[in-house]
Amino acid sequence: MFNPASPWVTTGYRSVFSLPISYTLTIQKTSIFDPSNSTLYDASASNMAGLNPTRFLVVDAAIYQLHKVAIKAYFQSYSIKTRIHIMRGEESHKNLTEMTSLVDALCDYGLKRREPFYAIGGGCVLDVCGLAASTYRRGVPFIRVPTTLLSLVDASVGVKNGVDYDCCLTETSYKNRLGTFYPPLAVVCWPGFVKSQDRRNLSNGCGEIVKLALVKSEEVFKLLEEYGGELISTGFGENGEEEIKVSVLEEKMCANQF
Ligand SMILES: NC(=O)c1ccc[n+]([C@@H]2O[C@H](COP(=O)([O-])OP(=O)(O)OC[C@H]3O[C@@H](n4cnc5c(N)ncnc54)[C@H](O)[C@@H]3O)[C@@H](O)[C@H]2O)c1
Repeated sequence: MFNPASPWVTTGYRSVFSLPISYTLTIQKTSIFDPSNSTLYDASASNMAGLNPTRFLVVDAAIYQLHKVAIKAYFQSYSIKTRIHIMRGEESHKNLTEMTSLVDALCDYGLKRREPFYAIGGGCVLDVCGLAASTYRRGVPFIRVPTTLLSLVDASVGVKNGVDYDCCLTETSYKNRLGTFYPPLAVVCWPGFVKSQDRRNLSNGCGEIVKLALVKSEEVFKLLEEYGGELISTGFGENGEEEIKVSVLEEKMCANQF
């Protein structure tokens, strides 16, 4: 502690400052890869004025398999070239190796200080990307696009990032042992992604919503009681459940900012 009366100190001071945290989150009604929906393009457009007409995208391997044609066509329709880095999801890939291979790709691409990159994937991909974004060149903007139910309702919001770490001294694997608090520039949510998820992963996401509903929202709990089974068996809604879907997601998101 700085003590002005200390005989060893000539002078000293304490700096106290705060950093504002703000980001935009939208829930999209239609596919974010439909060229008539400019949200995804707009998310990076203002930061990219005058910079090169290319975007760096990190894409979850499962999403790349399912949407690669649509992703490329989408950016092409805005005359934007893409550089795509594919990253595996799953906890076993949420580690420093994945992060440094992303950093290698960012160096090779030459991402500029204010140039946002896109992170499109489940919670594991988003966590690795967030950590890379917060440390690469001491922080670059990134745009989160969650693609699993769990990441839509949980990892999408808030400012936590991180990777698991295997300590060679304790020979123990620690979950989220290395991480940062770092907000995205924007979050673009499209519930339509979750249709391709398997039942187990959908149930994981629903578990998170149930947890919140129990603590926070009787209304969401009732919605889940009535429609939960149907939502899971139809990939979180087939037709006409927009209202339920969005209210469940919104309720979860609003209550879970940090
Ligand atoms: N940062 C945060 O605030 C926060 C919050 C909650 C959870 N998390 C983290 O999120 C991780 C779990 O995330 P998760 O449940 O999304 O799992 P995940 O990221 O491991 O994804 C599960 C699997 O689904 C695949 N996948 C992704 N999108 C898909 C889609 N639309 N259709 C089909 N397959 C798809 C992935 O490739 C992966 O194989 C955990 O590591 C957890 O710690 C972070």
